[in-house]
Amino acid sequence: MKIAITGKGGVGKTTLSGVLARLFANDGFNVLAVDADPDANLASSIGISEEKFQKIVPFSKMKELAKKRTAAEDGYGSLFILNPKVDDLPDEYCVEHKGVKLLAMGTIDQGGSGCVCPENTLIKRLMQELLVNRDDVVIMDMEAGIEHLGRGTAESVDALIVVVEPGRRSMQTANQIKGLAKDIGIKKVFIVASKVQDEKDLTFIKDNLNGFEFLGFVSLSSAVKKADIEGVSPIDIGGEVINEISLIKEQLIAKLN
Ligand SMILES: Nc1ncnc2c1ncn2[C@@H]1O[C@H](COP(=O)(O)OP(=O)(O)O)[C@@H](O)[C@H]1O
Ligand SMILES: [Mg+2]
Repeated sequence: MKIAITGKGGVGKTTLSGVLARLFANDGFNVLAVDADPDANLASSIGISEEKFQKIVPFSKMKELAKKRTAAEDGYGSLFILNPKVDDLPDEYCVEHKGVKLLAMGTIDQGGSGCVCPENTLIKRLMQELLVNRDDVVIMDMEAGIEHLGRGTAESVDALIVVVEPGRRSMQTANQIKGLAKDIGIKKVFIVASKVQDEKDLTFIKDNLNGFEFLGFVSLSSAVKKADIEGVSPIDIGGEVINEISLIKEQLIAKLN
């Protein structure tokens, strides 16, 4: 199962991604959590310590590795391999915690559509490897966009979850993302409502779905804030939000099978 999570900044994408990854791992799945947000912080919501987090080098910074794999030492000319070997990289460069393997992508240099620098090529191939070739549960935490997905990988994403909070701005972002998702061929796009305080919040979101399928909700929770302050995963603190995210996981399994 390949899940990509996106939405406006600050809505709760990373919180949902980290907890979902841990819950799938608890169920015995092989889980790859992919941090595809340049402002990478998925590690902490998985429960990876600050010390271990500091050791993670995103693939976008592995210039030497990218050069080696794409054999581009002599400039970006004739000997550039567009299809480098990457199948060993997920296991080699992940950080593992409680059954979740975390990989950090880093920033994809957009630099015009024709940019084929080694790092971009490596990341693109790696995304393909993770989404198309592997059978693990892949949970990808993205920024407010879907730049890491393109033709060839987007079709392998089983579901894009757009996280929104009660309010019009994150819903507007969701609508923009829906347009992009359709363009690149993502099959299923769900909404998860985050930071929900009461029934009224939930009704507001459900009344403004605009063609999205509703997947579930996460309440505004002091336990999530506490986890963030203490540098642990919300799952290690527990509480109602974990039940809510478990329901989201069950819905995913039910709707995607
Ligand atoms: N359900 C929630 N209840 C309370 N605070 C939350 C909740 N979800 C996220 N937060 C807090 O909101 C902030 C942004 O959350 P985060 O998951 O990093 O969002 P994003 O990845 O979308 O930017 C963090 O401080 C986080 O602890
Ligand atoms: Mg985030």
